[in-house]
Amino acid sequence: MAEIGVDISKAIRFLNNNQVVGIPTETVYGLAGNALNSTSITQIFEVKNRPTFDPLICHTHQISEIEKYVTRLPTMAYDLFEKFSPGPITILLPRKNIIPDLVTSGLSNVAFRIPKHYLTLELLRNLDFPLAAPSANPFGYISPTTALHVQAQLGSKIPYILQGGDCNIGVESTIIGFYEENKPYILRLGGLKTEEIEKVTGKILVQNSSSKPSAPGMLESHYAPEKKMYFIKRNDIEIQNNTIHLKNFDVFDINEVGFLGFDEYLEKIPKENQIILAENGNIQLAAQRLFGAMRELDKKNIKIIITFGVPTYQIGLAINDRLQRASTYLQ
Ligand code: TXA
Ligand code: MG
Repeated sequence: MAEIGVDISKAIRFLNNNQVVGIPTETVYGLAGNALNSTSITQIFEVKNRPTFDPLICHTHQISEIEKYVTRLPTMAYDLFEKFSPGPITILLPRKNIIPDLVTSGLSNVAFRIPKHYLTLELLRNLDFPLAAPSANPFGYISPTTALHVQAQLGSKIPYILQGGDCNIGVESTIIGFYEENKPYILRLGGLKTEEIEKVTGKILVQNSSSKPSAPGMLESHYAPEKKMYFIKRNDIEIQNNTIHLKNFDVFDINEVGFLGFDEYLEKIPKENQIILAENGNIQLAAQRLFGAMRELDKKNIKIIITFGVPTYQIGLAINDRLQRASTYLQ
């Protein structure tokens, strides 16, 4: 199993030695390696069992570092980084050749972000390379928001996890790209609200569709538990006696069903098989608890998980995006 601790010099030694390490960020934990070194990058893909066509995000501690690795930083990208970094925003930028093909899966753009976590920022300040870091979960599974989530699945394959506590945003960064005319778009909804981004960009297009193969992480069945998940509407279920009927789908015994709710329990389903994300209705709290709750439900003695999603404002949009991708069945 991996050692878990707060020893930055130890993490530095592993990283300088081209090994990979679990790191905390404000969004989710990352699986980090030297972004300029192919051995490290190869290990990241191997440990995650991730296909090499799915490129990695690079992390640095300041804008002037990013400028070393890209051929151009559009003014709007600079303004976005300046206003929201460190923070949950990632921007796609034209890369210099010093960034290996493996990092970008051969694409001409590289993704950069400045994570907001004191330990990881301190780590980055002490390295002379950026860190490539995808979320520290096996490919396709739920992202980790605690060091123990990383340990549970990747612990046997990595030497060290920096313990940074629970991630306080809880969903991945918002990814922004630019069309050729420098027009920005949102590639992945995430921790930074669209309303905030629009203060800098004006009305922005959300191109957050799973039909775009250029946007991996947007693949079907991502962020998914092992149990089958159903994202359905309240009106499309009927509970009678001991059974629950999912319209257009199947009938299940109520004891076989887990429920992931926003602020209310579902009547008749055993309470121990339900997790409510935010009884007080706080959408930010719901995001923080989302992936942990999915992991907990995945461990219960149930067959399926149903959810109605969360309200569709602010970070709720990113939560519903993850729930949809995690679901085998959508209505
Ligand atoms: O919050 C986050 O962004 C976390 C933490 C660890 O920083 N990282 C993260 O990485 O979510 P990952 O690999 O799980 O998701 C990154 C997404 C992938 O869907 C990838 O396809 C996309 O970013 N991406 C990375 N580089 C890209 C590029 N050059 N062009 C298009 N998409 C890119
Ligand atoms: Mg991921």
